[in-house]
Amino acid sequence: MTKVEQAVKLMADHTYGTWRAQKGWKSPLFIAKAEGVYFYDDKGKPYLDFSSQLMCSNLGHGNRAIIDAICEQAKKIPYISPGFICEAKARATEALLDVMPEGLDQFFFSTSGTEANEAAVKILRQYMAPKYKVISRYHSYHGATAVGVSLTGDPRRFYAERARCTVPGIVFAPDAYCYRCPFGLEYPGCSIQCAEYVDYMIKEEGNVAAVFVEPVVGTNGKLVPPPEYFPRLRKICDENGVLLVADEVMSGWYRTGPAWALDNWDVKPDILTTAKGCTGAYAPVGITATTKEIKGFFEETVMCHGHTYAMHPLVLSAIPAAVEEYKKLMATGLPQRVSKHIEKRLRELMENHKCIGDVRGIGHFWGVEIVKNRQTKERFNIKADKFVKPLMTNKIAAEALKRGLYIHNWYDHFTVAPPLIVTEKEVDKGVEIFDEVLKIADKEVEE
Ligand SMILES: Cc1ncc(COP(=O)(O)O)c(C=O)c1O
Repeated sequence: MTKVEQAVKLMADHTYGTWRAQKGWKSPLFIAKAEGVYFYDDKGKPYLDFSSQLMCSNLGHGNRAIIDAICEQAKKIPYISPGFICEAKARATEALLDVMPEGLDQFFFSTSGTEANEAAVKILRQYMAPKYKVISRYHSYHGATAVGVSLTGDPRRFYAERARCTVPGIVFAPDAYCYRCPFGLEYPGCSIQCAEYVDYMIKEEGNVAAVFVEPVVGTNGKLVPPPEYFPRLRKICDENGVLLVADEVMSGWYRTGPAWALDNWDVKPDILTTAKGCTGAYAPVGITATTKEIKGFFEETVMCHGHTYAMHPLVLSAIPAAVEEYKKLMATGLPQRVSKHIEKRLRELMENHKCIGDVRGIGHFWGVEIVKNRQTKERFNIKADKFVKPLMTNKIAAEALKRGLYIHNWYDHFTVAPPLIVTEKEVDKGVEIFDEVLKIADKEVEE
């Protein structure tokens, strides 16, 4: 057995593969290095990273500035408990003040998006007591632990519910999903029912403390709402005395163009959670940002939350370097230019493939939804198929990987979300392979 074969066997035999039946964790791909928008297996075969891993490696791979910052911190103070501060913690806080929406200047640091959301719910439920209900949406993912998965609309919640690992007090609103409007309406004649219905829910439910949303839905569809949606939702929250929480774990950090997806509609949340791109995924950090008013509530009341690794200096050291790298990159104009190219190329792809039902997105955050029939919009696979049936999107993504393209897939769509450093030429290369493998689904389209 080669060293690589030994490593694969060791991992398959002794570790849990995430979000899968373990029979699907027998031969994980061994990655030997990663640079720019590519990663490489042990034989040197390159894979174009068309989804920034899990929509988190926004600055690409091998960024020296961030790696150096982490290495420097490792030599200084890799860890000091949350009760002490140090230069790395102060510098991360300062860097965040520079990019966070105005007014969201109080931070709780953890090590994942899940934890950022867990903290947000604990904070808001204390702050809003006795109101405690949270309105989330069906097309959403907010994390793996009890609170995050309870907020989640996707099939991962079904499993957590069966394991009795969810929390009460969360209700689900219809999605701003224009391609499959839950009200059967069509924009712009719909009066944004998806937002109006939240007003109805708040009033009918009672005890609603917050509305919790991904401003552009990530894993569950790359759903970009109509322009009126968020200004209206903000107003509905204000009129009803309810907080608006933006989960920008995936949609933040220039993924949709501006630093925050909600900036696209000039709307500010009361709480913003983020993770992934805040370090370009070079180190695990979660951030829960609130207003001063919310922190003020805890002046005398205990903010009863924390972790051993809250405010961990080693991982926080990546934040100032990442913020700097984002600023430099955005100043070049490259992401702004290439995002238009991504859109153009994906729309062209739709013309060539009968299996593409919808192409939607913004910035470097695109979804390509496939269907059996464009007229009826019948899917190849539905939500309930995830984890239990072979998926058409799995088949296509696996073939793409064989041909050197890594593209993330969900049960009904693919994610085109390359690192923001991607060039037009690299986009073309990815689209070329995607174009080829989509023919697998074209063959099964019903005319
Ligand atoms: C919108 C959103 N929120 C929360 C999470 C959970 O983040 P993590 O996987 O870092 O716990 C994710 C992960 O994909 C996400 O996309």
